[in-house]
Amino acid sequence: MAFFNPFRPSYVQDPYPALARLRADDPVFRSHELDGWVLTRHADCAYILREQALFGNDPTTASGGMRVHVQDARAKSPLGAAPTLGAADPPIHPRLRGLIGRAFTPRMVEDERAVAAEVAGTLLDEAPAGQPFEFMSHLAEPLPVIVISDLLGLDDDERGPVREWAQALVRVIAGGELPPEAYREGEAAKAALLDFLRSYAERHAGDTSKKVISILVEAEAQGDRLSLDELLLFTVFLYTAGSGPTAYMLGNAVAALLAHPAALAAVRADRSLIRNAIEESLRWDSATQVLLRFAREDCEVGGRKIARGDTLYVMVGAAHRDPAVFPNPDAFDIERPITNTQLLAFGAGPHFCLGQPLAFVEGEAALGALLDRYPRLQAVPGGMERGGTFLLRGPRRLLLAGR
Ligand code: HEM
Repeated sequence: MAFFNPFRPSYVQDPYPALARLRADDPVFRSHELDGWVLTRHADCAYILREQALFGNDPTTASGGMRVHVQDARAKSPLGAAPTLGAADPPIHPRLRGLIGRAFTPRMVEDERAVAAEVAGTLLDEAPAGQPFEFMSHLAEPLPVIVISDLLGLDDDERGPVREWAQALVRVIAGGELPPEAYREGEAAKAALLDFLRSYAERHAGDTSKKVISILVEAEAQGDRLSLDELLLFTVFLYTAGSGPTAYMLGNAVAALLAHPAALAAVRADRSLIRNAIEESLRWDSATQVLLRFAREDCEVGGRKIARGDTLYVMVGAAHRDPAVFPNPDAFDIERPITNTQLLAFGAGPHFCLGQPLAFVEGEAALGALLDRYPRLQAVPGGMERGGTFLLRGPRRLLLAGR
């Protein structure tokens, strides 16, 4: 009988042997601990992510404990029951995505390239010379937050408060055991952020700078617009969707290169390989380990009967090591060809990450700046601490040397 326990310390250190065993023994595994199905084959994972009619993102459609937890969290949340983009199903999802997608144009993303390069350079230059550099807190975590603030079109003095309001709201949206003051802070943050967005919309009416908030205020599709509440929800969501995974992508990419000196030397010699190195690190040690779906109908996957309301754990990290799709999957090989449909780190299908091009822009900027300033880049022994959760994988701390 197959066995799977993702909460053991050995799994946090290295989940891949356990995931490979599960894929071989029982690729559509019914887990009692997780109260759901654990999918480890690439074909099943890709199918589930793409088949929105059968597998939804809205956790209130789940049966059992998941539904109770989410309903309880939403009842207490200052943001109420409205779903974020990432947790919405049709008809809400295509409507929100149609409006929000207008803000993520290739030009906007390219405009952030220079910003990301400058921010990455400045953050590295600020690091104290002659000491190990803690990559996560000094570069990987602040860079995406600063880029999102710029993308939103916030002035320097607006960035701090908007980020803090978003963080106060993120704390309470997730639910769980929280003190009453967290909810009071969430309510106050919601009121302040709504006031800010209202006055921003008025001040920037007809603005041609075309940053995200001004585009979203004006965006219209078939006579439909985002409400102020929806704009608030999206602003908050963007800080979560765009910052944690990007920080982990950067940390995992640097850690993978440090563990493979030949690949690091190749990237240093030919900077056009940075993009391949980031893609291969997203495959080999993905920031996105698990995506959740909820069965919208009774159906079948891999010969197993899935009931409506069941939770499905789409194990992206396992799919990326599936030998049926990636030959010699445990090897880190920056010259491996990887297609967009094979890489599931940004999801697949209707919820495919809106920020994927921006994530690569940030990755290229961060690694480029690091290689420029650290000619002898190397790990500090014992300087890496794993962080992350069951869903997201990345370092909590990553010390670097070699300036
Ligand atoms: C390496 C960095 C990133 C990774 C690994 C990542 C991963 C993902 C994944 C897996 C999804 C799909 C979730 C699902 O199917 O349930 C997603 C959705 C999304 N991501 Fe990203 N993301 C990254 C960076 C960003 C950035 C930088 C932004 C924007 C600034 C962003 C914005 C979004 C949005 C708005 C969605 C929701 C799309 C929808 O539900 O229709 N992401 N991301």
